[in-house]
Amino acid sequence: MSGDLARRSVVAGLAAAPMALAAVGADQLSLTRPQCLDQAARGRNRYFGAAVRADQLGLDTALRECVLRECGWITPEIHMKWDQLQPRRGWWTFTAADALVVFAAQNNLRLRGHTLLWHQSTPRWVASALRRRRDWRIVSDHLREVVLRYRDHVAVWDVVNEPLDGRVGRYPRPNVFLSAFGPGYVARALREAAELAPDARLAINEYGFEYVNADEDERRAAFLSLLRQLKAEGAPLHEVGIQAHLDLGKGPTYPEVLKPFLQAIADMGYRISITELDVREREFRLPVRERDRRVADAVRAYLDIVLEVDAVDGVSTWGIADRYSWLQEIAIRGRHGPNRGLPLDWDFRRKPMFWAMRDALNA
Ligand code: XIL
Repeated sequence: MSGDLARRSVVAGLAAAPMALAAVGADQLSLTRPQCLDQAARGRNRYFGAAVRADQLGLDTALRECVLRECGWITPEIHMKWDQLQPRRGWWTFTAADALVVFAAQNNLRLRGHTLLWHQSTPRWVASALRRRRDWRIVSDHLREVVLRYRDHVAVWDVVNEPLDGRVGRYPRPNVFLSAFGPGYVARALREAAELAPDARLAINEYGFEYVNADEDERRAAFLSLLRQLKAEGAPLHEVGIQAHLDLGKGPTYPEVLKPFLQAIADMGYRISITELDVREREFRLPVRERDRRVADAVRAYLDIVLEVDAVDGVSTWGIADRYSWLQEIAIRGRHGPNRGLPLDWDFRRKPMFWAMRDALNA
């Protein structure tokens, strides 16, 4: 499908919006808004958002109501990833991503497009094709289809996700794009995305900057030099996404480390969003009250630091309720009770992490 055709069909989809993700009335919203997270954030000229999935929103009314109550932005948790959109060559599956675009448009939510290039969501056919031939057209075609299709709806694109390697001393990440095209692939993808969607804001999204240890010290330094490099090349990068998957096993977050790091990004002229906040627990056998307190304290300490940096535009959590947190995959694998690292619990009740966020945003 050509890009233009693809875009028209999203707009057509908007007219015939699916019932499953129906809107909530404006007055209903205003009744529930007073202490919601987005409203707290707006008070400080920030936003609050969350990662969501169309299948979960479609099936779970309670989840949908919570998202509409708390969020000003949404991020597709999986539906805009390459392996979801084109699992096999030439086989496009836009249904779920379109449903979220419609949901956002109907409910006046802004959309963060996540993500165009990511090693983990690169379909196998792409990896093997690029290993056979270093053909940038494979990347170009993907960017054109996706960015044009959602051009009128996606406000910010995570153009490259996780360009740094996870291991100490190994930068950049040795993914298929690096092997095929060298480190210039990041700037090249940014340039093409900018041509396709000149009004969108373009971002790089990365994790592993919060804690003080050999790995993260090095990741912060490596990330700053990547940004300096992109700046020197004149790449069209507008903002930086900091994932912020907090981890109670990694010690405290230090303002004297984090603030200068964020400020260095801001000083290069980039805006910052916290894009995937959640908290990984380590001690599941403690009483729930204590676990919730630890999670809330970690979030409050972290947000108090980052919200002091003017360039930070807003905060999104990776999911909104524990029931649908991707961290359950890890927690359940370890045979522990559900991880409690999101603002709402399994049954969508606000819990200490919620109040910590609201208070930090209101502070
Ligand atoms: C995760 C989703 O939450 C999972 O459901 C999926 O199986 C894998 O991807 N960093 C990112 C996100 O940038 O895209 C990841 O999302 C979580 C880590």
